[in-house]
Amino acid sequence: MSISIPSEEPPFDLNGWRSRIPLCRKLVMMHNCSQTPQCDYTRMAAERYLESWNTAGMDWDAWTDEVAAARHEFARLINADPDEVAVSTSVSEATGSLVSGLPQDGRRKIVTTGAEFPGVAHTLVAHTRYGLELSWVPLQPDGTIRLEDYDDVIDDDTLLVSATHAFYQSGYVQDIAAIAAKAHAHGAMVYVDAYQTAGVVPIDVKAMGIDFLATGNLKWLFGIPGVAFIYVKRDLTERLHPALTGWFGRTDAFAFNPRLLDWHPTAQRLETGTWPVAAAYVARAGLQIIRQVGVGNIRSWTQRLSAQLIEGGRARGLRLYGTDDVERKTPVCAFVCPGDSHRAETLMKKADVMVSARGSVIRLAPHFYNTPEEVEIALDRLADVYASPELAASTPRP
Ligand SMILES: Cc1ncc(COP(=O)(O)O)c(C=O)c1O
Repeated sequence: MSISIPSEEPPFDLNGWRSRIPLCRKLVMMHNCSQTPQCDYTRMAAERYLESWNTAGMDWDAWTDEVAAARHEFARLINADPDEVAVSTSVSEATGSLVSGLPQDGRRKIVTTGAEFPGVAHTLVAHTRYGLELSWVPLQPDGTIRLEDYDDVIDDDTLLVSATHAFYQSGYVQDIAAIAAKAHAHGAMVYVDAYQTAGVVPIDVKAMGIDFLATGNLKWLFGIPGVAFIYVKRDLTERLHPALTGWFGRTDAFAFNPRLLDWHPTAQRLETGTWPVAAAYVARAGLQIIRQVGVGNIRSWTQRLSAQLIEGGRARGLRLYGTDDVERKTPVCAFVCPGDSHRAETLMKKADVMVSARGSVIRLAPHFYNTPEEVEIALDRLADVYASPELAASTPRP
């Protein structure tokens, strides 16, 4: 396939944003699928929390408002209402709360895919102890999932289809609206892990027919570890009774009645313990950055950079894992590593280029603040590292 790379400028102030991300002066950062860098705005948010803690000692009124504002901002990103969003601490935890709370109405089957992130898949596997059965849609050798393969496994016994929006390794984006339609035709619900898409691929839970969706914030959303969000479609809230719960999932967290297990009337029933307040400050600021730049603008600019990565990788003899169709992928471009990918990541870092190793590949994952010049630098360094004797002496990961 030949790829045309549009040369136009991005529809936002690229240099202005770069000046607000101090690390841009030192490093080429292509590891945004693992961790986005610090921006002056997210740093200020973290400092606001530290200041509040230092001056007020404890200010739960302000902290509660901040968590509510982060919930609101996340809801906006995915076209949900704030009361359809629960605050969690990781996607693994959010998945545990959801799956432990699924209705026990006779259906026992969960359909998932070979592309799920292990933290999600392991949670599903763990629940087979409690009577759920798992069916897998296979991952294809080229890092994609075939839509028609869902037809072989979704049936009238299916309770939930758990489909990652994008495969973390290849960046392959699944057609969630089509998967949801297949699930709903059999009366099953759909759960989407959007960690690899939120912020860089448009998400509209209503238009896509999504029932549940979770993401954390440290990857594309300019946040830090410790906070995650899970969306629950309003009509489904009352069907969930999570066993992975805590006092923040109660109607009144401050009722302090250990024998009363009631359920918050909104998605908040999926919450567990004390909110991750400090991380929520940063999450809100990171989400605001994404809103200011605009997901549509981010999508078009990163598709332009991905096309350049694919073309440039091919010209340098690097082998792409996954599709080369930028419409079907996140900004992630994964190149098969001839040696130990972790070693390659370290060698790249020594050469001032941040990349992200996963299994047998190195992922180059540009965000809106990256430039075409940085793409060329990253590709040149990767080609050098892949050809280096140091890497040749190491063993490739499976
Ligand atoms: C698609 C996807 N889901 C989930 C996770 C991990 O989520 P958490 O650590 O919040 O459980 C990752 C992290 O790499 C990921 O890429």
